[in-house]
Amino acid sequence: MPRTYAIRTFGCQMNEHDSSRAAGLLETIGYRPADSVETADLVLVNTCAVRENADNKLYGTLGHLRTLKAERGTTLVVGGCLAQKDGATVAEKAPWVDVVFGTHNLGSLPDLLLAADSATLPVVELVEQLESFPSALPAKRDVRHHAWVSISVGCNNSCSFCIVPSLRGPEVSRRVGDIVGEVQALVADDVVEVTLLGQNVNSYGRDLEVDGRAGRSLFADLLRALGSVPDLERVRFTSPHPRDFTLDVLDAMAETTNVCEHLHLPLQSGSDRLLKAMRRSYRAERYMDLVRRTRELMPEATLTTDIIVGFPGETDEDFAATMAVVEEARFEQAYTFKYSPRPGTDAAMMVDDFVDDAIVTTRYHALEALTRRHSLESHQRLIGSTQELLVQSPSKTDPTRLSGYTRGHHLVHLPADDRFAPGDLVTTEIREASTNYMIGSPAIDVRRTRAGRATEAALARGEGWQIRHLPPTDPAPESATRRRLPVLPG
Ligand code: SAH
Ligand code: SF4
Ligand code: F3S
Repeated sequence: MPRTYAIRTFGCQMNEHDSSRAAGLLETIGYRPADSVETADLVLVNTCAVRENADNKLYGTLGHLRTLKAERGTTLVVGGCLAQKDGATVAEKAPWVDVVFGTHNLGSLPDLLLAADSATLPVVELVEQLESFPSALPAKRDVRHHAWVSISVGCNNSCSFCIVPSLRGPEVSRRVGDIVGEVQALVADDVVEVTLLGQNVNSYGRDLEVDGRAGRSLFADLLRALGSVPDLERVRFTSPHPRDFTLDVLDAMAETTNVCEHLHLPLQSGSDRLLKAMRRSYRAERYMDLVRRTRELMPEATLTTDIIVGFPGETDEDFAATMAVVEEARFEQAYTFKYSPRPGTDAAMMVDDFVDDAIVTTRYHALEALTRRHSLESHQRLIGSTQELLVQSPSKTDPTRLSGYTRGHHLVHLPADDRFAPGDLVTTEIREASTNYMIGSPAIDVRRTRAGRATEAALARGEGWQIRHLPPTDPAPESATRRRLPVLPG
């Protein structure tokens, strides 16, 4: 019987991407997906550290897993950003864990598991610099039709609230040709949609030398290059940074048919004073210029954002400025966060300016009410329109429905139909709208894809819509050697 694994992922899409690489690595050494965390032989927790409650979540999860380990001897692995931040502390607080590794050495996972077999203490390995670009590692996608593709890792900015650069390191870009090559290989393997990942996609490529020149963003070029990959239906990306956003990226979006009309443009605050303190070097007016320009060029485009409430020193006037920008921009969706002090960041030192929690909560609710109203209105405006959906999955709550996403990334449920499966493209008319999703008519038109046909065949075999099984591969030879000795805590 092959050993089985389960992965719990916290945090952003970078972590989702890393988890699919971790799954790929585990499968190359003979592991197979488990049906649940409870039945898995190995559980990997891929952690996030962007806000404080991530810590509580990790230690809560590890407490639960301790019981599981006592009952079933489960191998427990902790990876990702919080592991990079806390390292040996994780092993001290939860000594029942087998392996801890960070954000830069995902590729070491098979070696670390081998080392853990003969170790009595947790095997901890953290390195300061990226060992290999995650895309160089094998990947195991969740679904046939979609893949994450990292175009750069790390971040060269120093937003004063943000811990990410200290965990993911400086920005390193991949070459355009490598990315296009990976995307072509993914399309040959049934993928119809890719999401390009970078902490700041607008600075993508500045570190690369092209024709003897460096320092220029190559993101618009990359979008155009991906526009000519046959059978690639949809390209998404996250996140752009408003400071570095150049209009040629908007032009490339508008001109490249397979680039979806969705821009996730993190605002963080609408107050120029706070943007300065956050070291986000754009101002509200520049941000709104970008919003207006986007709406002019792509009237169908969906705009989404991230906003922090209660950054140190935030006054009623600062918050009113944020509300004013939000009112004008009318985001289709906004992810709102209460400011959370992160160790080692400049904002965490502004203790005297921390905003009273009750005030933050009141502001948070006011902002959330406004952004939810905008989400609802944007969905209501689409009633009666026809939309093409990339079918994602059976609905979680209703087996007679499937769910899919419009090009603008709106979630739509529509009646299931034996003409299509997850991975196919279907046209529907929007009939009903609520804040978080819309309801579509029975499919008006269906475009089958290779992913849809493969998923349909898997469903007919009773395998489910997620990719569960890869062809068996030989387990790694016992002689696999460790590149470096594990660091043992204590
Ligand atoms: N690279 C992306 C953001 C990555 S972090 C960008 O620059 O847009 C994702 C989001 O988490 C951020 O946009 C921010 O809104 C939020 N965030 C980051 N640090 C935070 C903190 N200390 N407290 C609250 N929210 C935070
Ligand atoms: Fe963090 Fe700013 Fe970099 Fe985004 S751009 S990851 S918020 S430092
Ligand atoms: Fe992402 Fe969280 Fe790390 S947001 S980069 S997983 S700290």
